[in-house]
Amino acid sequence: MQLLLGQTIRFTADPFKAPLTDSTTHEPRGAVAIEGGMIKEAGPADELRQKYPQAKVTDYGDALISPGFVDAHVHYPQTAIIASWGKRLIDWLNSYTFPEESRFGDPAHAAEIAGSYFDLVTASGTTTTVSYCTIHPESVDAYFTAAQKRGLRVLGGKTCMDRNAPETLQDTPQSAYDDSKALLNRWHGQDRLSYVITPRFAPTSTPDQLAALGGLWAENPDVLMQTHISEQHEEIAWVADLFPDATDYLDVYERHGLLGPGALLGHAIHLTDRERDRIREVDASLIHCPTSNMFIGSGLFDMNSLMEQGHRIGLATDTGGGSSFSMLRTMAAAYEVAQLRGHPLHPAQLWWLATEGSAHALRMADKIGTLAPGSEADLAVIDLASTPAIAQRAARAEDIWQAIFPTIMMGDDRAIKAVWANGTCLRS
Ligand code: GUN
Ligand code: ZN
Repeated sequence: MQLLLGQTIRFTADPFKAPLTDSTTHEPRGAVAIEGGMIKEAGPADELRQKYPQAKVTDYGDALISPGFVDAHVHYPQTAIIASWGKRLIDWLNSYTFPEESRFGDPAHAAEIAGSYFDLVTASGTTTTVSYCTIHPESVDAYFTAAQKRGLRVLGGKTCMDRNAPETLQDTPQSAYDDSKALLNRWHGQDRLSYVITPRFAPTSTPDQLAALGGLWAENPDVLMQTHISEQHEEIAWVADLFPDATDYLDVYERHGLLGPGALLGHAIHLTDRERDRIREVDASLIHCPTSNMFIGSGLFDMNSLMEQGHRIGLATDTGGGSSFSMLRTMAAAYEVAQLRGHPLHPAQLWWLATEGSAHALRMADKIGTLAPGSEADLAVIDLASTPAIAQRAARAEDIWQAIFPTIMMGDDRAIKAVWANGTCLRS
């Protein structure tokens, strides 16, 4: 038994649905008890010390013990091309992304990038990622192997493309199906790893490939499916050209068996009313990627009205279209985008999105993203005074959310004091 001491915040309700005063419990001197990789209990430190006198105690002082961050949409193969200058989506893919992704058939390259990717994200307090790999099965093996070595709960899959990409990055409907199926059987449910069926997006798949992957999903309904939708206007017009019979972008996926409750739809900025209603009806998840949407010039996600409509929404870096590995920076960008839309997000809503909200979008809120008893002990310990600039602002805070907000807006990996995964200290 381990007992970690620090400040704790627990969500008792969804802060987008319940009033903020009813949705969180703050312990200024709190504790998290861990046993067998799981959270046994979180509560006041005095109480838990008395209850578990034999526990090994790690005292983090005033630092905040949070669930590790859950990054619901990333491209780990884009690690080394993050922050590439000056292009919009389609040019950015052709100029930077595809040349780099072409290198992942080499297992040594894939292993090197996967290792440095997980070192970077865990240094930023992220304990779960959902990644697009490349078309190469080697890239999926490298991703899951690196995560497994670190004891992380991660999700990911082979990115399938059979048109509108360089020859070296194309598979076929059949090989996409066969490779994805073999990888799913190899990795899904191993330790804490989950396979995700991954057609990149409508423009890079033929109808036959989308249908083949829709068939694989129908055969494996318990796995998630991820893709991109309605990120930029040029992309949406291209989809309309490529699929003239489809009602809209969402319908391209639906008519090929690629829409259901386990769908993770990245970006979803320029949805029509019909698409919004239909996504809500099937209860698929939308994944908000705010640094990416600003960096590539895509647009402003409509968080307020989508939440009011009852959508299931996760938060993500979208590394390397996104310009950061850090979910702190991503929360800051979500705040800024919401400000531009005229609806500032409360720090509690931002923190929820980066932890339990993303877990909920992945349908894993019973396992990760929370300090609830029986969930997995993946934790980030956050220093709320990690730089002089943050410390002097936090010193004026009148409540815990005012103390946290400067770290959301100005924090980086220096704020991450320790990371625990599966009940083991991964970094300190
Ligand atoms: N749409 C299709 N592929 C990608 C990608 O790699 N990044 C982003 N941001 N959008 C995409
Ligand atoms: Zn993406």
